[in-house]
Formats: sequence, C-alpha cells, structure tokens
Amino acid sequence: MTTNDLKSALSSAGQAHLWRHAESLPSPHRDAFVGRLLDLDWEAIPDLVARYVTSAPPVATHAGLQPAPYYPCDPESPQRPYDAARFRRAGERLLAQGKVAAFVVAGGQGTRLGFDGPKGCFAATPVTGKPIFQVFAEQVLAAQRRHQRAVPWYIMTSPLNHDATVSFFRRHNSFGLSPADVRFFQQGVMPTFELGTGRILLAAPGVVATNPDGHGGSLRALWDSGAVACMKSRGVEHLSYFQVDNPLVNVFDPLFIGLHAEAPDSSAQMSSKMIPKAGPGEKVGVFCRAPTHRGPRTVVIEYSDLPAALARETNPDGSLRFQAGSIAVHLLSVAFVERLNTDPAFALPYHRAEKKTPCIDPETGSAINPTAPNSVKLERFVFDALEFCGSSIVLETRREDEFAPIKNAAGVDSAESSRALQSARAARWLASAGVEVPLKDDGTPDCTLEISPLTAASPTDLRGERLPTRIERGASLAL
Ligand code: UTP
Repeated sequence: MTTNDLKSALSSAGQAHLWRHAESLPSPHRDAFVGRLLDLDWEAIPDLVARYVTSAPPVATHAGLQPAPYYPCDPESPQRPYDAARFRRAGERLLAQGKVAAFVVAGGQGTRLGFDGPKGCFAATPVTGKPIFQVFAEQVLAAQRRHQRAVPWYIMTSPLNHDATVSFFRRHNSFGLSPADVRFFQQGVMPTFELGTGRILLAAPGVVATNPDGHGGSLRALWDSGAVACMKSRGVEHLSYFQVDNPLVNVFDPLFIGLHAEAPDSSAQMSSKMIPKAGPGEKVGVFCRAPTHRGPRTVVIEYSDLPAALARETNPDGSLRFQAGSIAVHLLSVAFVERLNTDPAFALPYHRAEKKTPCIDPETGSAINPTAPNSVKLERFVFDALEFCGSSIVLETRREDEFAPIKNAAGVDSAESSRALQSARAARWLASAGVEVPLKDDGTPDCTLEISPLTAASPTDLRGERLPTRIERGASLAL
C-alpha cells in the first residue's frame, strides 16, 4: 500500500483522525508513524470494528450444550475408572525422552494486579517472596535433574513487556537454567479502539495504542517466531501450557501427559485440566460438549456466556451439572500447532473487552486518563482452539493442589489469597510426610510455609528430605 492508498483507506475505514494526526507531526516522526500505520491490516480492520467494536457480537445461544466428560481425580471412581498407573508411566516416559517442554503465556498486561512490571516478576511466594518466574524455573530445573536432560522452557511475552522480562531473567542468571533452554518470543498486538466510535486510539503523539492480542495469539506466535521449528529440532512433541499467574501450577504432570498422549478418546492434540467450580457464580470458563459446524466438540464456554439456568443445574447428588471449571492448563502437541498454522482457514475468533486505556486526544494532544472504560480491546483465547481438535480430553484436578491465581490487587485471587493457598498446600504435604503442623480453628496452618519445587514436586518427594518433626505456632519456614 502506498501513502496515498493509506490516506483513502483511513478515510473509508472511519480512521481519518490518524491521517490528520500524522500531518500534525514533525517530518521524521510523521514518516515513522505513517510506516506503523502501513503495517496495520487495513483489509481486516473495518470489518473487525463493525463486528466487535461499534456493536457487540450477539451472545451465542449455545443450544444443545452438555457437560464435557472428564477423567476424575480418583481413577477408581465408578463414574469413569481408568488405569492411572499406566498413563502415569506413559507420561514419565515422554518426560524422560525430552518430548515435553514448558510453555508459559506471559504477555498479558496484568492491569488488575496493578504491579509495575511483568507479572512473572511479582514476589509471589509466602515466605521468601520469590518471583513467580522463579517458581516455574525451579520446576523446570527439578524436571531437568529428575530426567537428567535439558528441558526447554518457552516464554511468550508481548512487545509491551518483552524487554523488561528478558532483562529480569538476565539479572537473575535465568534462575540457574541454561539460557539455551529458555526461549522468549513475542506475541502480536492489536490496535486499541475507542468505545462507541471504533476509532483507533493514540497512546502518545505518533504512537498507536495497542494491546497484546490475547493468549490465543500464542498459537500464531509459536509458529511465526520460529519456536515450533526450534521445538522440532529439539525433539519436543508436547507443550505444557500454563499462565503466568498461577504459582501452584504443576508444569510436568506425568498422569496428565500420559492421558493426553495415550487415552483412547484423546487425539493427543490439545487437552485440558479442570477443577469443580466452587459455585454456579464462579467466574471461570466451563468445559462443555457443544454441537459445532465441525461436529460435536469439547469447548470452553465463558462464565458470562453460560446461561444462568444451566450454570445452576445440579446432578442428583447436588453437584453442579456444568461443574468443570477451566484453570487454563493445557497440553498442546507441536504437530497440532503446526497443523493449525499451515491451514489457510485457521483463525480464532476475537473477544471484546471494554477497558480503561490512557491515551491522548488526537486533535489537541492532551492526555486523557479515563475513570470509566473508554476503549475496546480485541483478544483471542487459546481455548477456542479446542474446536479444531477431533477429540480432546479433560482431567479433573484438586483446586487446593494446583490453583492459586494472582489476578487482583486485593480480595479474591490476590497475592494474599494465593500465598495462603501456597502455604496451606505446603502444610498438607508436610503433614502427609509426618510433620506436626499447627493449625488454627478453621483448619488453616498457624504458620507460614513454603516448599521449593527443587525440594519437592509432589508430597512423595518429601520422603527423602530431612524434615523437622514439628513446626512452632507462628513460625515461617521455607524448605
Ligand atoms: P488474563 O486474562 O488474566 O489477562 O491473562 P492479563 O492481561 O494478564 O491481566 P488483566 O486482565 O489485565 O488484569 C491470563 C494469562 O494469559 C496471558 C497472561 O499473561 C496470563 O498468563 N496473556 C493474556 C498473554 O500472554 N497475552 C495476552 O494478550 C493476554
């Protein structure tokens, strides 16, 4: 597209303010700004604005939804018995062969937490205040020691936090990992649109406001960045996908890996973990079976899209019928990511979110610090890729063992609630190893505890450790 074409494309896309803004800039800045505008996809933007920004897409009716089947935590449950030992062995085998890599999506903006820096740099653990990235690094190191081989870790950042993330790792010597085993790559961004008008916002003079294109952007970014090629050259076949905000995630779970790879109803393309929802109103997506134009599929329905009547339905034993809450933990096969990216028809849908975005007035240049949502961000969600799998399995896990998200500055899903959950899990693991742990009347530990993944990846790993026989009330202990 030439500069003249751009001018008319902007005008017919309702974005003429960007051209006027370009003309108001001194010439070197103007050329750079015009260059950035030329990089935007002017074939797609008008349609995106019409579909998602100036009007909200209609909420899907989700007719014919059924709860998704899942493998229960208890392999002997009459609901669905399975040979856990066999699948655990299969997972161990894949790990020992170096076929599983860790993959964290860390490109989000973390606006709710309000921390000044990438969320993975946030001090998350209850005793030593380790950054979340270190907790994951220790899981990777522990897997390397256990399997006596390099285990790669892929970290997706966004242009908004890439440099800060990379320099954090450099400052901390990659937390003991070889830099060759830690590979960063960046996801794409989308322009941020003004709520109501659909005009693209400006972050500063000559700077388009952008937002990362969602964790679903990882599927393209894995390919475009060359990460998939790197995985193939290293013999990696499966990715353990997790989010940066959950310090309790179990990155290398042999049972989950084995089920994903070998369960008879798994296509070994994309698998997921779930926890039973705490109640009908809990704000997590729910795994369902849905009729789609590709046939019946396992999908995640966002909490806001699950009809309230369905969310409240119960089974005869009183449990929620649609209870399989997503904790955003998946396994993805490298072959699946490759197949998606080589399919010209592959595209995940966008989801719209109304947010407060500081920006400038394009005509006057004055700063705008909104107190109410003024913008629409468009993002892709990774779980929408489930629809592209022929079949996909879901494994139940225990919330208290694997889910302690840090999303908010205070209250539910905050650093404080996450630290309490981390300490409670450490207390349970120590108690199961015979340590006397003081408890409060409500059953929570009356002490603060932390177990490094290098010390134990599961309670059984504590067996060989030298442990105290008892812990004093009010003590803080990191193992
Ligand atoms: P969230 O949905 O919690 O979004 O991301 P967020 O941007 O981190 O936080 P808020 O909503 O602004 O408070 C869930 C996970 O997906 C990653 C995040 O880093 C986190 O691990 N993510 C999200 C990306 O990697 N890229 C994105 O574009 C969005």
